[in-house]
Amino acid sequence: MDVSRLVEPDRVHRSVYTDPAIFDAEMENIFERIWVYCGHESQVKAPGDYYAVTIGRQPMLMVRQPDGGISVLYNRCPHRGVQVIGNRQGNTGSALVCSYHAWSFHLDGSVRAIPLAAGYENTRMTRDNPDCSMRRAARVDSYRGFVFACLVDEGPTLSEFLGEAKVAFDDMCDRSPEGEVEVVPICHRVIQHSNWKFFMENQLDALHPSVTHQSTGIAAGRVEKRLKAQGEAVPLYYHYLSAFASNFDQWDKVQTINFPRGHGILKAYMGLRPADPDTREYEALLERAYGKEKMEEYLSRSIHHVLVYPYLSVQSPLQQLRCMRPISADKTLSEIWHFRLKGAPEAIYRRSLWYYNLVNSPATMINADDLENWTKGQRGLESKGMDWVSFHRWYGDDREDNGVIYSNHGTSEAVMRNQFRAWSRYMGA
Ligand SMILES: [Fe+2]
Repeated sequence: MDVSRLVEPDRVHRSVYTDPAIFDAEMENIFERIWVYCGHESQVKAPGDYYAVTIGRQPMLMVRQPDGGISVLYNRCPHRGVQVIGNRQGNTGSALVCSYHAWSFHLDGSVRAIPLAAGYENTRMTRDNPDCSMRRAARVDSYRGFVFACLVDEGPTLSEFLGEAKVAFDDMCDRSPEGEVEVVPICHRVIQHSNWKFFMENQLDALHPSVTHQSTGIAAGRVEKRLKAQGEAVPLYYHYLSAFASNFDQWDKVQTINFPRGHGILKAYMGLRPADPDTREYEALLERAYGKEKMEEYLSRSIHHVLVYPYLSVQSPLQQLRCMRPISADKTLSEIWHFRLKGAPEAIYRRSLWYYNLVNSPATMINADDLENWTKGQRGLESKGMDWVSFHRWYGDDREDNGVIYSNHGTSEAVMRNQFRAWSRYMGA
């Protein structure tokens, strides 16, 4: 595959969104070679707790160990290949047991018992053969409670892979007086009928909100205005929606920062620090925990989204995390999670929940409009209408410093150009 013929600095060939062979190559060269998010450690609290997760095309299990560690195993019995766990989550007790022929394994995947073992004597399938154990992910590591696995031994450490994008998890956890978050154990799962790249591009695309989300933004803005005119308090959640209808000049002032591995940051634009009693109570808790200077630092980072390329979008100020799990060239599973700040007042959690339900839920007027765009985008790119996808907006205008690209205009397509620069590297250009 000649990647240089598909990706040019200012445009890409439509087949990178539609070709099943390219999709398979992405799974081989990217998703099954990099650190992929499995889940938060609070999803598997007790020994034997497990959570099934897909890494690239591989069905994996995140399992809490008796010693408190977390293992990530291929969900595949070494005997006849049956998936050992059929559910998404649960507790498996002290062993993993295959439902087909009752081979059993310790929680770290090592073989525990082969039933009717006499039948395997003098074959290669005896307990001392590592092929009788469930295979493990080559590497497992976590950052501030967020667990990742990598299926190969070589390559960067988790810390190196995350690089500047670590701020996503720092910003989320530092907002808790205890420095930790806890998962809200229900997530929305949505199948997007589009290539995974649509979502990743869209997250830092400051050009689309005032078009795509105009009707919702304007309607919410009208209600805000009316409440103000009536002298009533305006709940913060109207602002979540009305901010989408900011004008192009405002969006152009919201900078994106684009890192060499494809990660990126869209700076803050919403203003999420009202001076109401709930916020003051919350700030007092943070100040008690960290001191005034740190509290100010933690609450004033300019972040709207942080992208961990190629599959994660973290909205740390509102404790939201969306994870893409590609299924095929034209289908992507998205998991939409949110978290509680440990030790923060309930009212602060409610803010995060409002955002989750009003913006990120598939039932909202925001996410639904995006989903429609991406579906139509996929269909358009599958057509013979034209071969190239344009990323020319403000091409040549961005500032590059040490491999990091800073947009001079928030609506610059620097985001997509940078993502494809990273993509090309992963794909062996
Ligand atoms: Fe959008």
